[in-house]
Amino acid sequence: MIQNQKENETLLHDLNGELTMVMDVFYRLEKGIMKGTLTTENAKDAILEMLNNGKKRVLGISEFMKEAISPKVDFEDIARMHVKNHGGIEIKITNISNSKYLMKRIHINRILNNIISNAVEAQATVLKIAINKDSIVFMDDGEGFSKGVASSINSGKQITTRDNGHGIGTISVKKLARSYKLEMTCCNGLNGANIAFNKTA
Ligand SMILES: Nc1ncnc2c1ncn2[C@@H]1O[C@H](COP(=O)(O)OP(=O)(O)OP(=O)(O)O)[C@@H](O)[C@H]1O
Ligand SMILES: [Mg+2]
Repeated sequence: MIQNQKENETLLHDLNGELTMVMDVFYRLEKGIMKGTLTTENAKDAILEMLNNGKKRVLGISEFMKEAISPKVDFEDIARMHVKNHGGIEIKITNISNSKYLMKRIHINRILNNIISNAVEAQATVLKIAINKDSIVFMDDGEGFSKGVASSINSGKQITTRDNGHGIGTISVKKLARSYKLEMTCCNGLNGANIAFNKTA
């Protein structure tokens, strides 16, 4: 329940950010008209561009809301879509037991985007995703976790080894996974980083 509330708060926060952008477009339009800088024929293009920006944003928000309230879909189906989208890394999915993990599409994308971008940043060329009866395991062939990083993440601590990193990605994925009764654990495998999501119930 608390998790749901947190998720709603995050969604509201995202939505608020998007709406602020739309309001900014209208605000700038209004200001231009008031000041008289947007009344000449020359300003037509500028006005049209601003209106178009606003329109795109509103469409974006409606897509975003559709996603947010969408029914749950199967993890594997969405993961297979990512296989085509990522040119830099080869993604191999196995699901021998034909296991299903139903989640919201935005959540699956959040998990995959974080894990894939981290693997790419660790110079991995292959990312294997093993979907099992009781777990989903990601294995890459990159540099692996630096000393102390995996244990920090496992204990829920935010950590980054990158200049421009935030260290938010994996921790937010760990929290999100819990709302689906999956516990995320990181470790180094034979070839690189392993990230496992084990069923807890
Ligand atoms: N696949 C991986 N291989 C090696 N190290 C990894 C891998 N995934 C995560 N890490 C390590 O874990 C740290 C935390 O990852 P996380 O995604 O939370 O943050 P980040 O990538 O540094 O920044 P951002 O929040 O912008 O994604 C990374 O800085 C990196 O050191
Ligand atoms: Mg990251």
